[in-house]
Amino acid sequence: MSEKMIAAMDRNLAMEAVRVTEATALAASRLMGRGDERAADLAAMQAMQTALNRLPIDGTVVIGEGEADDTTVLYTGEKVGIGQGSPQIDIVLDPLEGSTICAKGGYNALAVVAMAERGAFLKVPAIYMDKIAVGPNLPEGVVDLDAPPVENLKNLARAKQIEVADLLVCMLDRPRHDDLIAKVRDAGARVMLIADGDVAGVIATTLAKTGVDMYLGIGGAPEGVLAAAALYCVGGQMQGRLVVRGDSERSRAARCGITDAAHKFTLTEMANGNVLFAATGVTDGVVLQGVHRYPGGATTHSMVIRSKTGTVRFIEARHDSLRKGGLDC
Ligand code: FBP
Repeated sequence: MSEKMIAAMDRNLAMEAVRVTEATALAASRLMGRGDERAADLAAMQAMQTALNRLPIDGTVVIGEGEADDTTVLYTGEKVGIGQGSPQIDIVLDPLEGSTICAKGGYNALAVVAMAERGAFLKVPAIYMDKIAVGPNLPEGVVDLDAPPVENLKNLARAKQIEVADLLVCMLDRPRHDDLIAKVRDAGARVMLIADGDVAGVIATTLAKTGVDMYLGIGGAPEGVLAAAALYCVGGQMQGRLVVRGDSERSRAARCGITDAAHKFTLTEMANGNVLFAATGVTDGVVLQGVHRYPGGATTHSMVIRSKTGTVRFIEARHDSLRKGGLDC
């Protein structure tokens, strides 16, 4: 394939990736506020699998919905796409990032996918990861996962030429973060606590409209790699370290090729190469609007980013259910 054809395919694939997350969000949104996490998850998984299987790729899910033993839909290692001589693509996905949020009709649920050439993503098991992230255009190393919060906040405030009191730190609202929250507040910064959905929390650091300056704390490792893919595309900074609890998690990490459980992963160790990232809001959130329904259709709000250009494209789409045979929305 010529360079030109690869570039065109890359751009087209970015649009196709948005179609995948749109279809997934539309399916999940049917179950929004219905109180059934599992049903919402399943609807999203099935819609994403169907949409991915239409793509002109020879795709492999490298971080999916679990092991082949746990799920038959979008398991890690599953092949997706039409295959047959198409480009070999690795995929990290979360059809419904924030299933509890969706079930409760809360904020920040997303349908998310990241794609790149083979070997571009860190493979991680579904365990926890300790994360720190900031947006683009800051001096390299301005924050560090191992530095005390007060030091990170002072360095970030200095780099942004603002006061620590002006900084807003996004964190998951969890008892495990009580100490960290206290340290951030003691340092003088403000804290935005989110119920769920730390992919949106990390991406929020890259968008001025959110007011979020830093993401901090422990969330899912797969969500960490997805967020890293987005940040890598935009040019933000992120570090992550697996939180390994016991031998079983240690061997699951080892099966992903991670033998040093204490390793602090840099952004480019988590995502590298020619990455594209797409997300569609399922419910309204800090980054994207959710699916809004109206008679005969629905609107979706998505973002797509390619690492090659760093362009962050927001796409608002109106879906006409009559013209789609009532199928997609
Ligand atoms: P799910 O979609 O799997 O429910 O994940 C939601 C989420 O909030 C993630 O964004 C986050 O990384 C993780 O859960 C945190 O895990 P926990 O709820 O166990 O603290």
